[in-house]
Amino acid sequence: MSSPTIPRRPAPTDGWSGLVIDGRYRIGRLLGEGGMGEAYLARDLRLERWVVVKRPHASLLADASERLRFLREIRSLTRLEHPYVLKILDAGAGPDGCPFAVMPYLPGGNLRDVLASRARWSVRDLRVWLPAMACALDYVHGHGYVHGDVKPANVLFDESGNAILSDFGLVHALAPDAPDGELEATPGSPAYMGPEVIGGGAIGPAYDQYALGVMIHEALAGERPFDDTSVVACLLHKRASPPRPLRDLGVHVTAAEEAAVLRALARDPAARFPRCASFVRALDPEAPLPSCLPPPAATPDVSGPA
Ligand SMILES: Nc1ncnc2c1ncn2[C@@H]1O[C@H](COP(=O)(O)OP(=O)(O)OP(=O)(O)O)[C@@H](O)[C@H]1O
Ligand SMILES: [Mg+2]
Repeated sequence: MSSPTIPRRPAPTDGWSGLVIDGRYRIGRLLGEGGMGEAYLARDLRLERWVVVKRPHASLLADASERLRFLREIRSLTRLEHPYVLKILDAGAGPDGCPFAVMPYLPGGNLRDVLASRARWSVRDLRVWLPAMACALDYVHGHGYVHGDVKPANVLFDESGNAILSDFGLVHALAPDAPDGELEATPGSPAYMGPEVIGGGAIGPAYDQYALGVMIHEALAGERPFDDTSVVACLLHKRASPPRPLRDLGVHVTAAEEAAVLRALARDPAARFPRCASFVRALDPEAPLPSCLPPPAATPDVSGPA
């Protein structure tokens, strides 16, 4: 596979393109811009490898104390390691004071583009990414975190085709107190948000499971269960009516498969599966589930001798 190339001249709109930040990362082209910030391809000059540098939108971190908090949050997440969770390698502040996070560059594209390129998937086809994502989410939840922005654009593929969950931690770092109805402060995409985000409901692991259910519905049916463009309309719709059963949409699934998807999409978070792995087991009992890592022992004291 050929290496990506860094453009010689920065495009005028690429804020950081062409800069070397922290004396270490040469910023290349803008890979894209999401709801939370910008993602740049960059060269790690110290370790001579390609990485992705992400910086949040300035509007999400209004002042210096919020920028510091973002860095603290990101640094605290670097201790989490899982084969299907994109690792945060480093964090720092750019020349304009804007914080950034560094992640491995994954060259295999994202699930949003893969979903757009084919019509409908079978339950068996989902094995390409679903067991890995369920395992990654259970790991994240086992450490007391909620991803908060599970969606196809945040499922990336590495060069071997493994699905890797990305942007874990960014929602938390940007809006640690965002759940419980604070829609304005909650980054994320309305189509994938659990309905409990309005009305002061608690946001827990079941919130991510709901998003996974939407992704599965989208893959199987070729359309999302609710697709209103405004956040509030979409969430009210989700609270007012259940999703249309897959078989009513002409999808070839068994009653058990349909029931599994509908349970993950239950309005009441308590009615969903206890874990994402249980959801996969109910949907596709034969799917090979990777052995999920147990939660870690208490963090060892690394402060060194007094
Ligand atoms: N580590 C990575 N390796 C390769 N490509 C990446 C990486 N991270 C992001 N990208 C790509 O960069 C683009 C922008 O990603 P970004 O995460 O900023 O936006 P998003 O996922 O669309 O929305 P959100 O901000 O809600 O996560 C997407 O096309 C994504 O596939
Ligand atoms: Mg993303």
